[in-house]
Amino acid sequence: SWTPGAFVDLTVAELKEKIGEDKVVLGLSGGVDSTVAAMLLHKAIGKNLYCIFVNNGLLRKNEFEDVLHQYKDMGLNVKGVDSSARFLDALAGVSDPELKRKAIGNTFIEVFDDEAHEIKDVTYLAQGTIYPDVIESISVNGPSVTIKSHHNVGGLPDFMKLKVVEPLRMLFKDEVRRVGAELGIDKTLLGRHPFPGPGLAIRILGDITAEKVRILQEVDHVFIQGLRDWGLYDHVWQAGAILLPVQSVGVMGDERTYEQVVALRAVESTDGMTADWVNLPYKFLQKTSNTIINRVKGVNRVVYDISSKPPATIEWE
Ligand code: XMP
Repeated sequence: SWTPGAFVDLTVAELKEKIGEDKVVLGLSGGVDSTVAAMLLHKAIGKNLYCIFVNNGLLRKNEFEDVLHQYKDMGLNVKGVDSSARFLDALAGVSDPELKRKAIGNTFIEVFDDEAHEIKDVTYLAQGTIYPDVIESISVNGPSVTIKSHHNVGGLPDFMKLKVVEPLRMLFKDEVRRVGAELGIDKTLLGRHPFPGPGLAIRILGDITAEKVRILQEVDHVFIQGLRDWGLYDHVWQAGAILLPVQSVGVMGDERTYEQVVALRAVESTDGMTADWVNLPYKFLQKTSNTIINRVKGVNRVVYDISSKPPATIEWE
């Protein structure tokens, strides 16, 4: 029967045999799949694995720095590339959800291609593709959709002409987590909620500015840290905050305010295909709402999303 230990031994041996002294490039996302794929390859080929971790400026508060630090502690040969400004430029004035995804996907491809060119004589592109990505034509984990549209317009970027290695392509998510634990990857990293590739861009309804990203990062941080502090984080499949393109009237001291509304969303799910909103304790919601409104300048109202999927989706865009 399948065990993570046997999988690691066999896969590491196969990767060594297949790759030999060649170089491999891999894009890390901060998520479970790319991290586990990287650690397997690291075990097999060490420094010949070149990891690239791109900051698209749409990650959670402090996430780029924190996760990059963790990767370095794990011994990975990783380069952090802060391209926030480039992504924000590409997104300027874009409100349509699919156009946001396209702008982000295309910018990611440009940045990644530039970085891959910096590595001399690289032979392989490694990806954290897992079995559900293989059987679904449209992956929820990454820029596969936009790669196709990019491809149609301008031809394949060079890194996509590399030979592909996908050590997780036969595994389900829970197996990936077990392999990750076997490899000694930190429990908090393995237990992280799914987070969409386009990041906070699809949780800011309407156009995106640096200021809106900052506001949403603060709100999201209060919510997620609260879930952790209250021991609720691991009981939720995915959670986040959404910045609505709506202002509402409030009152602060003697002053009338007219500020942003944010929505909080937390769902239970097994695969993201269907989802139920989570019955979070009222006390928790009350505390979280107060903290957000007191702490985050520009927000005067918090609502909780009580819609299930279907017919709603998990994300609002
Ligand atoms: P929906 O909103 O479709 O989300 O119910 C289902 C799951 O997919 C994630 N999601 C994405 N992930 N790129 C991604 O990498 C995307 O464009 C994207 N859109 C949605 C979402 O966070 C949820 O886990």
